[in-house]
Amino acid sequence: MKNDYIPYPAVIESIITESFDTKTFRVKFTDKKIADNFSYVQGQFMQISLMGTGEAPISISSSPSRKGFLEFSIRSVGKLTKKIHELKVREKMFIRGPYGKGHFPFEEIKGKNLIFVAGGIGLPPLRSLINLIMDNRKDFENVKILYGCKTADEFCFKDELKAWNKIPNTEVLLTVDKKTDDWTGRVGVVTELWKDADIKSDNAVAFLCGPPIMIKFVVQKLEGSGFSDKNIIMTLERHMKCGIGKCGHCNVGDKFICVDGPVFTCAEVKKFPKKDGAM
Ligand SMILES: Cc1cc2nc3c(=O)[nH]c(=O)nc-3n(C[C@H](O)[C@H](O)[C@H](O)COP(=O)(O)OP(=O)(O)OC[C@H]3O[C@@H](n4cnc5c(N)ncnc54)[C@H](O)[C@@H]3O)c2cc1C
Ligand code: FES
Repeated sequence: MKNDYIPYPAVIESIITESFDTKTFRVKFTDKKIADNFSYVQGQFMQISLMGTGEAPISISSSPSRKGFLEFSIRSVGKLTKKIHELKVREKMFIRGPYGKGHFPFEEIKGKNLIFVAGGIGLPPLRSLINLIMDNRKDFENVKILYGCKTADEFCFKDELKAWNKIPNTEVLLTVDKKTDDWTGRVGVVTELWKDADIKSDNAVAFLCGPPIMIKFVVQKLEGSGFSDKNIIMTLERHMKCGIGKCGHCNVGDKFICVDGPVFTCAEVKKFPKKDGAM
């Protein structure tokens, strides 16, 4: 009988230190048969575990257009993620998934202007879709990526941010809450970028990921710029255990974040009961 809870070993091929607390791990299944049968779509997540330590949901930050590996960008915040940060190249982690039926649209957004708004560790799940778009760039109109962090040493994917900004009709705008000596760019919360970003809702879809307070104010800004709730798409985080709709840990109203999400439109989130985080 198939056991949905069984994780599979994945060996670490490379580790990039993104910031003072975040690393990106590129991994590969050790079993060729599992690797050959594995596929995922942008916005899905996996359950990552280390034996004797625990398990946590982590978004796949690589694009499905880049084959042969998976990338996870992990902030060290607790028991498991601290241990994962101690791992070295050629060591193993255990992964099961991919999970989440609610993923980012792709075919449906072709021909549109796209706006991405991320705060802190919110960029990794969006990066999966961003790189999928960059690999099919001619199918899309203007792309704007607005990214805010508390301080400059928190930015993830620094080289990619520069590379995306060089692509025609693609703009990356960065801001920090608090200026440090090494930062000469914009200062202020991510919504302050509206002053420079010329955000328009015509033929546009917006994608968000970040802390709830950021989401709340970014949604207000987008609505102020004329976006309808169905064209504001966000990926949500909740405490999870099973990841497969069985334990009830991630339940909001009549939805499970793990199976119905983690990606929802703002219109769907607004229907969540108030106590479960409706806006
Ligand atoms: C769909 C989804 C995708 C995600 N994707 C990513 C991703 O791409 N990258 C990423 O870094 N994270 C991601 N997360 C978040 C990640 O799963 C959590 O941070 C996870 O809890 C980390 O596990 P841990 O054991 O290291 O931390 P934990 O020990 O669970 O601690 C996590 C946080 O909770 C606090 N905490 C722990 N115990 C307590 C307590 N008893 N009382 C109060 N506070 C407590 C800790 O201080 C810490 O801030 C995602 C979550 C979801 C749901
Ligand atoms: S994590 Fe168990 S139901 Fe979603």
